[in-house]
Amino acid sequence: MGLLDGKTAIVTGAARGIGKAIALKFAAEGANIAFTDLVIDENADKTVKELEAFGVKAKGYASNAANFEDTAKVVEEIHKDFGRIDILVNNAGITRDGLMMRMSEQQWDMVINVNLKSAFNFIHACTPVMMRQKAGSIINMASVVGVHGNAGQANYAASKAGMIALAKSIAQELGSRGIRANAIAPGFILTDMTASLSEEVRAEWAKKIPLRRGGTPEDVANIATFLASDMSSYVSGQVIQVDGGMNM
Ligand code: NAI
Repeated sequence: MGLLDGKTAIVTGAARGIGKAIALKFAAEGANIAFTDLVIDENADKTVKELEAFGVKAKGYASNAANFEDTAKVVEEIHKDFGRIDILVNNAGITRDGLMMRMSEQQWDMVINVNLKSAFNFIHACTPVMMRQKAGSIINMASVVGVHGNAGQANYAASKAGMIALAKSIAQELGSRGIRANAIAPGFILTDMTASLSEEVRAEWAKKIPLRRGGTPEDVANIATFLASDMSSYVSGQVIQVDGGMNM
């Protein structure tokens, strides 16, 4: 018996990195998986095969999570294909770093749209289904910088703080309908997003982490599984930091 047997999960931005690890862990626990990303190519097709190997239904959908109409359409398609939506993980995210003085309007808008508006789009489209089912678990991927801020990442940190406030607000609005909403705030996780950082910057980060290592996508996927499952049935409106103790 898996923790997520019979449930259907949507994971956005899951072609690689943390999203993919979440999709795989959910599938291992018995959930059917609908995942989205900007492009569904041979790699995504391989991911579908990996997911199906767990004996669940899986399909990848090409969609821009930042686009409201695109999202409404893709959620309708997913609902038709899978028949229900139990779990929503708003994971798609990007960085466009720079100091405020030099940050362009485009850098600001892009990060806010992809990281925060995307979650509004998916929550807006999925909650009517969850309300009819009288159950649902929504997980917003935030970041420790959304709690503490970070020089050079004003756009990103603001979007992630927004993800936390969005989860808390939904938790209050929809708790009486059996819908829970929480946020995960990862610290330094080893994915493509952090791979471009220099050895020096990585060493600096490592010094600040009591556990003395970067996190893995699986470290984050484990917490997502807990929040998606009935193991956390009395947990809502919370932010769980997955950061090796970096921020206490
Ligand atoms: P990643 O860059 O490896 O993967 C992000 C995925 O989102 C990619 O597959 C990308 O194509 C997709 N994506 C980007 N824009 C999209 C859009 N408009 N519509 C649909 N999909 C889109 O990043 P990673 O590291 O796996 O990050 C996943 C989430 O975790 C992000 O929200 C990120 O901000 C958050 N996070 C990551 C941390 C890290 O250290 N890697 C730390 C804290 C939070």
